[in-house]
Amino acid sequence: MLLSYLRDRLRLTGTKYGCGGGGCGACTVMVSRYQPGTKTILHYSANACLLPVCQLQGAAVTTVEGIGSTKTRVHPVQERIARAHGSQCGFCTPGMVMSMYTLLRNTPQPTMEDIREALGGNLCRCTGYRPIVDGFRTFCQESNCCQGNGNGTAGCCLDGESPPEKSGNGLPPQLFDQGDLLPLDPTQELIFPPELILMAQTEPQMSQRFIGENIVWISPVSLDELIQLKADHPQAPLVIGCPASHNNITYQSPGVVCSVYIGAGCSLSVVKALLEGLVQELPEEKTEIYRALLQQLGNVGGQQIRNVASIGGNIVSAYPNSDLNPVLAAGSCKLSVVSKGGRKEILLNKDFLVGFGKTSLKPDEIVLSVFIPVSRKWEFMGALRQAPRKENALATVTSGIRVMFTEGSSVVKELSICYGGVGPCTVSASRTCAAIIGRPWNEQTLSEAYTVLLDEISLSPSHPGGKVDFRRSLTLSLLFKFNLQILHKLWEMNVIKEDLSEEMSSGIRPLPNQLQPGIQVFQPVVNGQSVDDQVGRPVMHHSAISQATGEAVYCDDIPKTDGELHLVLVTSTRPHAKIRGIDVTEALQVPGVVDVITSKDIPGKKFRTFTGVDEELLAENEVSCVGQMVCAVIADTREQAKRGAAVVKIHYEDLPEPVFTEAMEKKSYFQPQRTIERGNVTQAFEEVDQVYEGEIRLGGQEHFYMETQSMVVVPSGEDRELRVYLSCQHPTYAQESIAETLGIPSNRVSCHVKRVGGAFGGKVTKTSAIACITSVAAWRSGRAVRCVLERGEDMLITGARHPVLGRYKVGFMNDGKIIAADLHYYANSGNTADESVLVVEKVLLHLDNAYNVPNLRGHSVACKTNLPSNTAFRGFGVPQSMLVTENMINDVAMKLGRNAEEQIREINMYKEVSLTHYKFQFDPKNLLRCWDECKEKSDYDSRRQAAGEFNQKNRWKKRGLAVIPIKYGIAFSEGFLNQAASLVHIYKDGSVLVSHGGTEMGQGIHTKMQQVASRELHIPTSFIHITETSTSAVPNTCPSAASFGTDANGMAVKNACETLYRRLEPVRKQNPTGTWESWVKKAFLQKISLSATGYYRGHDLYMDWEKQEGQPYAYFTYGACCSEVEVDCLSGDYRTVRTDIVTDIGRSINPSVDIGQIEGSFIQGLGLYTMEELQFSPSGVLLTRGPSQYKIPAICDIPLQFNVYLLSDSDNPHAIYSSKGIGEPVLFLGSSVFFAIKDAVAAARAEAGMDGPFTLDSPATPERTCLACNTDFTQKIPPSRPGSFKPWALNIP
Ligand SMILES: Cc1cc2nc3c(=O)[nH]c(=O)nc-3n(C[C@H](O)[C@H](O)[C@H](O)COP(=O)(O)OP(=O)(O)OC[C@H]3O[C@@H](n4cnc5c(N)ncnc54)[C@H](O)[C@@H]3O)c2cc1C
Ligand code: FES
Ligand code: FES
Repeated sequence: MLLSYLRDRLRLTGTKYGCGGGGCGACTVMVSRYQPGTKTILHYSANACLLPVCQLQGAAVTTVEGIGSTKTRVHPVQERIARAHGSQCGFCTPGMVMSMYTLLRNTPQPTMEDIREALGGNLCRCTGYRPIVDGFRTFCQESNCCQGNGNGTAGCCLDGESPPEKSGNGLPPQLFDQGDLLPLDPTQELIFPPELILMAQTEPQMSQRFIGENIVWISPVSLDELIQLKADHPQAPLVIGCPASHNNITYQSPGVVCSVYIGAGCSLSVVKALLEGLVQELPEEKTEIYRALLQQLGNVGGQQIRNVASIGGNIVSAYPNSDLNPVLAAGSCKLSVVSKGGRKEILLNKDFLVGFGKTSLKPDEIVLSVFIPVSRKWEFMGALRQAPRKENALATVTSGIRVMFTEGSSVVKELSICYGGVGPCTVSASRTCAAIIGRPWNEQTLSEAYTVLLDEISLSPSHPGGKVDFRRSLTLSLLFKFNLQILHKLWEMNVIKEDLSEEMSSGIRPLPNQLQPGIQVFQPVVNGQSVDDQVGRPVMHHSAISQATGEAVYCDDIPKTDGELHLVLVTSTRPHAKIRGIDVTEALQVPGVVDVITSKDIPGKKFRTFTGVDEELLAENEVSCVGQMVCAVIADTREQAKRGAAVVKIHYEDLPEPVFTEAMEKKSYFQPQRTIERGNVTQAFEEVDQVYEGEIRLGGQEHFYMETQSMVVVPSGEDRELRVYLSCQHPTYAQESIAETLGIPSNRVSCHVKRVGGAFGGKVTKTSAIACITSVAAWRSGRAVRCVLERGEDMLITGARHPVLGRYKVGFMNDGKIIAADLHYYANSGNTADESVLVVEKVLLHLDNAYNVPNLRGHSVACKTNLPSNTAFRGFGVPQSMLVTENMINDVAMKLGRNAEEQIREINMYKEVSLTHYKFQFDPKNLLRCWDECKEKSDYDSRRQAAGEFNQKNRWKKRGLAVIPIKYGIAFSEGFLNQAASLVHIYKDGSVLVSHGGTEMGQGIHTKMQQVASRELHIPTSFIHITETSTSAVPNTCPSAASFGTDANGMAVKNACETLYRRLEPVRKQNPTGTWESWVKKAFLQKISLSATGYYRGHDLYMDWEKQEGQPYAYFTYGACCSEVEVDCLSGDYRTVRTDIVTDIGRSINPSVDIGQIEGSFIQGLGLYTMEELQFSPSGVLLTRGPSQYKIPAICDIPLQFNVYLLSDSDNPHAIYSSKGIGEPVLFLGSSVFFAIKDAVAAARAEAGMDGPFTLDSPATPERTCLACNTDFTQKIPPSRPGSFKPWALNIP
């Protein structure tokens, strides 16, 4: 594929590997082709991971390196994403840049809609997309907005109102200055290589043949040649290399189009453009089918997929949930097919689409074109779909429905209903159609048709893909939506008298979609602060530009060393089994394979120890989950290692009854279990007005860092030294673990982390375990070994956030005051303890969230199961803990019949200096300020009222709001982890090199450390460089985690810089007007040491679980968030209309970095609570192993209006420069979207006559949301009897 060719052969490593399956966009490049017919050049974005190099004959490929670099000229696209703070870890940045660059090559002044569409296939796990959109918005004409809208009180220039009040120096502080951006000059872009034009124009087209190790690739140049090839090699797949191929429009009479033949090789983008043209050109009545297809084409994959995937390929692939086939089948489209035997036309119907991935095409037949007729008068077509994510996701159910009426009446003459996603291939509901044909289209007919449909499309409860009840209800509700469209059309055509009521038409009105500019409010630095003092200013991420140009080096970008080997892990395929033997004979015979590493080959400790628990590195005698590492194959190339791994034979003897979800019944727990109590809960339950018991299940979450686990271990060849380059959060732990594994002292192992392409807690323990195995391979072979996990392997092996079942009993008074609560948490920890006990401890420490419940008891356990071991994830148990608490509050509100549960929240909130349930004193003043400001800025009261009014007028769309507070403890409750060190060198030329223990993983720690050093040394940041985190420079570091990196390392850097500045004092006094460089030179001559270490001995925190009290945190970070959603009750789809966050992060050291953390964290939380679903098969196999199955938020999921306010005038004596940690806390505020959805669902249920608490588990996916709405359609689905079938996936936790 082009990706490996670029990265490995050409050493163009700016193009990244994120998934290898077209789902993330990290590998986006621009492909350009000269089209001799039109003499134009076509530019399109494409995924390099899916592009065969052989296909690119005659094409020019532009990578991120090609458009600009720091050595020549940075391209405006690269500059703007960097300046707008749209690059955090930077791993997605080159892909984003290339998608935007391609858009600008085709459309130099794009609209916001163009940008949204262009970036729809690019994922980012760090930023939350807002800054990327804002950076690129500057290319739009409509971008010059004052950004004043959003707080409900200030005006916006777009509304014709004056911008918001100015602050401080007269201007509201902005995160980036748009004034001096590099202009976009299309004339300066790279030209298409003239030799390729010449080649296309003059050279005769010759067929090409490429012969590889395993594949022969033939590129024919004529149809005859292709037909002959297909006859000779019928089983060879046909790969379309050209996005445009011949189209034909058939005319009835001059100018009157009667149909269109689209070349089967046309890319979906070209088909889309062609149909858009026809829709503009033709009368509306003729374009029903074209518009339905356009509707679907906008949703197929991302832009990069649409640019390359061909319509013929889409049809012939015959996916069960193809979006095009149901429309083409319902629209009576035909295929023109050719083979040696001649040409024929085939109707695209159930006789053609015969099974999963199967058509009736003979192996040697080629689809030449697709015939799509114009629609006739009285013919209407609809295309409706529902997918797990709004864009770039295969549909759960998709449909094409066509109806033809007898002229002038509502009597159905023809009807065709086709669905995708409800069978092995596209399914035609012919019995349902028969029940409607000949009858008038009305409520009576349709309601009878639903009964037939329900019977006709009945999925087995074990249907692959699951979601059976949802899919079945969607078949009904999508038909109902079509019904609404048709009723409206019949009214427009004067066939029926009454149009749809406003209430009913809500069923077909699309959800709002328009991205608005958000606002970001932060406090400016004080008047008079030196311009060289960068603390408190929105300084750009220190490597943002090199990340945007592709020059930033990630672990797998490190050039190969001589003789380097590749390592591929072999993992268990059994959930619980004895290993009876490992046969590596065949693997060792695979060419290129050098060795197979098993547990027996580990020279030192075979276990990795963390938090006092031993975990086997490679399973020796027994496996306890699918995905557990058993051995590793090393070979000259990755492909060879993969081939070797595939033939390693592990002989298992299955052990009985693996535990997946039954840990509670079987009391399968890790020890210790934790309990905490204050007051007298049992007695308090006796004294309350009401008691309610409820539960909520919260699924796990895959880290989905964009850079998968990566490392290179290089033996130095002498003194048993190893240099380890890795992408991790805790280099010291990796160093210690490797040393123990090899049985050598730590001083022989140096770990180096330049940057990490996202981590989120997933690169602490798991990375170290893999690094140990890779080190054993390097140790034994004496050669450098590289291990870079593929996305699927990474997801399978490295675990995720703990799924949690929360059960509670709550006692409260009729006025809403909660008097007693008893909460139980069960965290599915997987097969090893990892950090699970610490996670469940943190669950208990945060169960109060912002509420003062006088009698409070919590009990938490880490359940031991035969699933892959779960690990730390941003928030470390807090997001699970607080969701349970907030759900309990929600139930209390529902029980009391209150519409607005924020009143219950307010009644129970901490109001004055208080003790937590672990007797830690704190002042909630800033918590209350955040809460009040959030309600005010979001204009909560009037919007809640407006939502109520909206809900009354709309039967099928409901709006919901929620305001959620947070109180989050910062620092490690294990006191010894609260320390940090630094090393600062000043060189003779005045330049400064800072080293510290924190790793840069997108959170901007290096940028903040530069700011700290700049303030303490009184020099501009341009003097200061941070090269990497290395155990050789700063030893015995603590993990970059717990939102504590800046607090700890900042103090250590400050300490070293203070020492140095003090040492320079004599020379400064001797020459007060001298420059920094002159002082440094002088100091050297005076033999003053210009190197210093810094140290920070942080808070002595502790938690005594025996006494159930302690001081586990240094301080609290506070916040509040209001989100509003609109839910489509018929499909469960939703849109976050607006989010307002107010956070107290003290005095921000860098508002752009902190706001970036807030937005990114919030979006990750939104993913956790509303989208991201890990699915395991009933035998414990992870089914969701890549972006096609596991959906993280994309650009289509961000709130349409997203405002962030940093609380002003907040001081924090416990952290550097009065700042506060922020990386983790805001993730929980993503739950405001969950509770807003729940609020909307409650409104839908109320309309169906259902009041009171109800269960909505997390994530609130469209499936759960739709089923919870309890519409007429979901009610029709007979529930499958539990136990009577084997479900497709386990219900975890
Ligand atoms: C990330 C991602 C997201 C996607 N999302 C969606 C989605 O939301 N909805 C949706 O409908 N699809 C989706 N797809 C599927 C995508 O549209 C198909 O992969 C694509 O249309 C296949 O086209 P292709 O040109 O790549 O065909 P190929 O993959 O190259 O070919 C597919 C098969 O068709 C055969 N074939 C191709 N052309 C012809 C021909 N002219 N005559 C005979 N046989 C032929 C080939 O031999 C091969 O067997 C997605 C794919 C990806 C990777
Ligand atoms: S790596 Fe190509 S799309 Fe993810
Ligand atoms: S900055 Fe986008 S994935 Fe990290």
